[in-house]
Amino acid sequence: MAALDTSADAVLRALSEIRDPSSTRSLGELKMVQAVEPLEGNGVRIRLVLPTPASPHKRALEDSVRAKLDPMSFSRVEVAFSAEVRPSAAKGAGNDLVPTVKNVILVGSGKGGVGKSTVSCNIAIALAQLGCKVGLLDADIYGPSVPLMMGLFGGRPQSNGDKKVLPLVAYGVKVISIGFFVDPDQAMIWRGPMLHGALVQLLRDVEWGDLDYLVLDLPPGTGDVQLTIAQQVSTSGAVIVTTPQDVALSDAIKAKTMFDKVSIPVLGMVENMSGFVCPHCKVETEIFAKGGAELAANKMAVPFLGRVPINLAVREGGDDGKPVVASHPELPEAQALVRIAQNVADRVSLANLFAVPRGQKPLVQLGKKA
Ligand SMILES: Nc1ncnc2c1ncn2[C@@H]1O[C@H](COP(=O)(O)OP(=O)(O)OP(=O)(O)O)[C@@H](O)[C@H]1O
Ligand SMILES: [Mg+2]
Repeated sequence: MAALDTSADAVLRALSEIRDPSSTRSLGELKMVQAVEPLEGNGVRIRLVLPTPASPHKRALEDSVRAKLDPMSFSRVEVAFSAEVRPSAAKGAGNDLVPTVKNVILVGSGKGGVGKSTVSCNIAIALAQLGCKVGLLDADIYGPSVPLMMGLFGGRPQSNGDKKVLPLVAYGVKVISIGFFVDPDQAMIWRGPMLHGALVQLLRDVEWGDLDYLVLDLPPGTGDVQLTIAQQVSTSGAVIVTTPQDVALSDAIKAKTMFDKVSIPVLGMVENMSGFVCPHCKVETEIFAKGGAELAANKMAVPFLGRVPINLAVREGGDDGKPVVASHPELPEAQALVRIAQNVADRVSLANLFAVPRGQKPLVQLGKKA
């Protein structure tokens, strides 16, 4: 029997056939195999380039690489990952107040108090922990809660020589909130033009630097802030947060309708406060029901991004300025939030893969199979 060809070319050919779990396209078509490097003593190192450092598919890809190379009997296979985040296709079309930001991700809901700010802070931190360059903008100018949740309450950003505001940094995330500029005990009354002006400043007059993702925590509802953002920023899409009971779900459906009207794609839905496991007796109680958001997401044909149970540590993390993904990474709630962050990044990459940013070629053409 002839010996198997184990040259770098043969390895590359074999690996090119593997399907990317996210897009189902081949690694060859996606140009994801960057290098095949020989290692001492008949080993090999495979370098794969991912569309985001936060990819949820690293393990699956590594397993596929190992399975594919198994018949070649290498003494050792190493898989090394790097990542290149593509900018949103919407970039460069019309208004863009944040040109150095590759992807703006909105976090919204129809209803108040469902956990938008909690999800925004935790996914921003999770993305940063996974190696992405991340900013967090608190666009809830009526009730900014990001300063408190990120442990930055009372912070005052400085400006640089170009009169741009330098964001504060917490947990590796660049943070800006209207809460840094107004008296926290003062009720803010925003008239239309003022509100518009404040939001524009928070976006345009901040030295964001190069960011892969800017997470934007929206106020509840479907009002002026959402409209201004839709008109002024090229967004990659919106994450809708909801709790599982019917009243919250009907508001989540309204949020989806609003995003549709302003042509902002919905990246998916998150079910928050989904079930409570008693820390003493371990029995789960479905305080706000469970599973409703997934059903609603299926009905609306939007991806379901994951569920986060109710846990005291999540609330305490918010109040203490130590979000749970940073303070208690071992908890299932924290791990659920990390997975949601990965799923969000994956949905953004997928959308950017099939889209055509201005002046660039699409990486993959729709309808053309490898
Ligand atoms: N999974 C959870 N478990 C326990 N507490 C949670 C959870 N998610 C959010 N909370 C708590 O619920 C409260 C409301 O959450 P949050 O402020 O994130 O909601 P919101 O949708 O941003 O509210 P608003 O509409 O007022 O902006 C906070 O005290 C937060 O700590
Ligand atoms: Mg909020």
